[in-house]
Amino acid sequence: MISKLKHLLTALAISGFVISTPITATVAEPSAATIEEGKKLSFSRSKGNCLACHAIKGGSMPGNIGPALVAMKLRFPDKQKLVDKIWGTTESQVVPNSMMPPFGKHGILTDSEINTITDYIYTL
Ligand code: HEC
Repeated sequence: MISKLKHLLTALAISGFVISTPITATVAEPSAATIEEGKKLSFSRSKGNCLACHAIKGGSMPGNIGPALVAMKLRFPDKQKLVDKIWGTTESQVVPNSMMPPFGKHGILTDSEINTITDYIYTL
């Protein structure tokens, strides 16, 4: 039974089903430390590298391939939609051929990193 289950999970993982299961936005008010960590991850060239394409308050030499990340709560009243956009769910990909990397779907960032980044971006 267990081995059958393992087999099924492996098959799902290989088919991309398990890997591409989207994540849930954090509900609790993030701590100052979490927000600071999210900022670091967003600015880091080897992590989010969001500045390559987006202007973010306090970030130097931003790119302008994507829109400036401001007033996020107004643009994303539902925080889950923001997580989905950064994670890269299929439903969130409304702009055809967007340059925006699907960070979760492609395993560029971990789910926890994406939640931390979202907590920070949501303060902008
Ligand atoms: C290679 C360029 C690139 C990088 C890197 C990038 N983005 Fe984007 N992003 C875009 C583009 C282009 C758009 C506009 C098209 C779209 O919505 O997909 C966009 C759109 C968005 C939107 C939707 C904005 C809106 O008002 O609809 C959010 C939120 C966002 N990006 C967040 C991020 C975050 C957070 C990071 C870093 C973890 C990041 N992006 C990294 C190119 C990029």
